[in-house]
Amino acid sequence: MNIVILAAGMGKRMRSALPKVLHPLAGRPLLAHVIDTARTLSPTRLVVVVGHGADKVREAVGAPDVQFALQDKQLGTGHAVQQALPLLDPSVPTLVLYGDVPLTRASTLTRLIDAAGAERYGVLTVTVDDPAGYGRIVRDAAGKVKKIVEQKDASEEERRIAEINTGIVITPTRTLETWLASLKNDNAQGEFYLTDVVERAIDSGVEVVTAQPDAEWETLGVNSKIQLAELERIHQRNVANALLDAGVTLMDPARIDVRGTLECGADVSIDVNCVFEGRVTLADNVTVGPNCVIRDATIGAGTRIDAYTHIEGASAGANVVLGPYARLRPGAKLSDEAHVGNFVEVKNAVLGHGSKANHLTYIGDSDIGARVNVGAGTITCNYDGANKHRTVIEDDVFIGSDTQLVAPVRVGRGVTIAAGTTVWKDVAEGELVLNEKIQISKTDYKRPVKKKS
Ligand code: UD1
Ligand code: CA
Repeated sequence: MNIVILAAGMGKRMRSALPKVLHPLAGRPLLAHVIDTARTLSPTRLVVVVGHGADKVREAVGAPDVQFALQDKQLGTGHAVQQALPLLDPSVPTLVLYGDVPLTRASTLTRLIDAAGAERYGVLTVTVDDPAGYGRIVRDAAGKVKKIVEQKDASEEERRIAEINTGIVITPTRTLETWLASLKNDNAQGEFYLTDVVERAIDSGVEVVTAQPDAEWETLGVNSKIQLAELERIHQRNVANALLDAGVTLMDPARIDVRGTLECGADVSIDVNCVFEGRVTLADNVTVGPNCVIRDATIGAGTRIDAYTHIEGASAGANVVLGPYARLRPGAKLSDEAHVGNFVEVKNAVLGHGSKANHLTYIGDSDIGARVNVGAGTITCNYDGANKHRTVIEDDVFIGSDTQLVAPVRVGRGVTIAAGTTVWKDVAEGELVLNEKIQISKTDYKRPVKKKS
């Protein structure tokens, strides 16, 4: 099967410099969703018709299995398909999809494909409460499709028809060339309508069949930011329902956003207003507190992520405690039973089994062993203004509060670092390290008093 995706339109009503089909739904371009769905049908040719912002569209969704056809001027949907013809295999049918209709399910398309087979012309139609604006499906007394008439060309009577053209069709390809070449633009919009091909098919003795989607939202297109927002909500609700079906507890299915894939084990619980991006895996019994942002992360069983925690490109083992207000940046790897608490940032660093950094700390470019206690206000000084260096802290080290570790530096197993120490030289196993400082007390000190004005 060939698949052609129409994506040449400008999308004036989006009021944006970005081509319409590149506006994101769940963090990815609308067109990328359509291409994904198309791929699940294993087409032999996959052609995207581009026009407005063609270069940007090519760049955004280019892939070895995607070919592009340029429609220089948008002269109508029929004209758009015509531009793709040279790239199609004439011996198999062609399915036409729309780059701005992102939520059509493969199961619905398969129903249309099966109904049409190799010989028939298939139209995905749906009966709606308010058909205004859509092409109407005109049937004869026997219920057979006669033609599709656009809103702007329809008579009073035709406008009362509630069965509409979703735009998605499948057609034999060999005959398509002649059909498209014979289209006229003598209609209200002065366009070459793909919808007129239905009459050509009937005239050549090809049967026209219809199929319907499982749900009406599958055929909704995006023409404005309002419609984009509506489809985003529908999509997120679908994702939330799938998570609930899989046994995940969502404190409020209306307040979770998944922009990518979220895989959950058994008995995972997610509180409100969490955003998941990229690929996120939560193992059994993970709990996520409210207002967390988690991107490209793997979280082990029984781990607790408390409120306002941000995670990106990081992993945590089992029974880790994170947050509230923790931040894991790319390359953070927390072993089982580690604790990372409030206002602690970890980047490109390993925290060993059971190690704890509970308060106000920066750990960057570090290898921290097991059972290390990182006191409040500890900073790894990893950057000398030109290069980054590593800090190595072996097992069972105790780091007193307000310590600076000036990298590159190595602290041996079992070392104790006194509070307020700046460590800039390596420390051997078992030692106590501190900086010499003096404490002075003055008896004659008077605090300044605010002047009266
Ligand atoms: C089209 C159908 C209408 C159907 C409706 C469903 C036609 C003539 N009408 O109308 O029956 O009910 O979709 O939403 O087909 N495009 C191009 N090149 C063009 C024109 C359009 O690539 O020259 C693309 C657009 O970017 C868009 C899609 O085709 O993705 C549909 O175009 P649009 O103008 O929105 O069609 P409608 O007038 O809504
Ligand atoms: Ca139009």
